[in-house]
Amino acid sequence: MTELMEGKTVVVTGGTAGVGRETACGLARLGAQVVVVGRDGDRARTAVAELRRDAGNDRVEAVLADLTLKRNVRELAERIAARYGEIHVLINNMGVTRASRMLTPEGIETTFAANVLAPYLLVEGLLPTLIRAAPARIINITGGVPHGSIDLDNLQGERSYVALSHYNQTKLALMAMSYTTAERLRGSGVTLNVAYPGHAYTSINKSLPVSAYPPLARPIVPLLRPLMPILYGHRAAVRASRSSVYLASDPGVADLHGTYINSSCRAVTWPAAVLSQRNRDAVGAICEQLATAPTRSTGQAA
Ligand SMILES: NC(=O)c1ccc[n+]([C@@H]2O[C@H](COP(=O)([O-])OP(=O)(O)OC[C@H]3O[C@@H](n4cnc5c(N)ncnc54)[C@H](OP(=O)(O)O)[C@@H]3O)[C@@H](O)[C@H]2O)c1
Repeated sequence: MTELMEGKTVVVTGGTAGVGRETACGLARLGAQVVVVGRDGDRARTAVAELRRDAGNDRVEAVLADLTLKRNVRELAERIAARYGEIHVLINNMGVTRASRMLTPEGIETTFAANVLAPYLLVEGLLPTLIRAAPARIINITGGVPHGSIDLDNLQGERSYVALSHYNQTKLALMAMSYTTAERLRGSGVTLNVAYPGHAYTSINKSLPVSAYPPLARPIVPLLRPLMPILYGHRAAVRASRSSVYLASDPGVADLHGTYINSSCRAVTWPAAVLSQRNRDAVGAICEQLATAPTRSTGQAA
């Protein structure tokens, strides 16, 4: 264990498995107190025990929340603020993809709720706790391919839904929201950057049926599947954690703000869909509208 992150408290959503688990491990190895967020109590307990052992750092704890639900995200922020007081790094790592379109019990499309609204609400809820700890850092984790577009009439898959295309669009929307939030945070002492992790074979892609892929890719998916654990197993997840560990801990990027970095930790140009002011305004408006709308209870798949 080195001391680079000694005295810092880090929150990693989705930190109990996959890339987030490796990010949590990397930062615990650097001496940080690490709070991992997951949903399942047993998986979280196991992850905490393993992270403490692997990182040689007992200051790893878990909190549970289903981040697809607005009320849970808000409660999570309140619990973290009350328990830890100051947060130096927030890593919005958790992301999901759903094979078919599903609404959350609050009536929001699940992938959009997890990939865009949850980070938006968690930043909102934890901002005072981050500002108190300033200089503090927020890192939002993107995914998919950057050259896609954002269909403003289909942000929640209302008109058409192909799982991976929708996932891609939600990640572009996350980046658009991140860009706007970074502008708002300028001068606050809290930086916000976006990291692309790179591919790893984790639960987000293991469970996807062939129908979740765009039609042209479907014939090759069954052929590639057996190779995935070999090519993109645990070592790939560790590799994929590097860009977020770098943004969270490297002293050389303490002032980096409003930047998008790739899996090699290089700053790259924001995707065209994110540079569009129209897209950023529309994504910002829908986040604000969904955040402030009264919570409705449904639970129906759409
Ligand atoms: N894997 C890749 O190839 C890849 C590529 C590019 C980008 N990314 C991005 O990298 C990030 C991490 O991906 P990953 O591959 O590590 O995913 P993953 O393995 O599926 O992540 C699992 C983690 O997310 C938590 N989680 C899942 N649904 C949740 C929910 N509704 N509420 C709270 N926690 C939830 C899980 O907790 P429980 O176990 O308790 O459910 C677990 O801690 C995501 O944003 C993803 O989009 C991944």
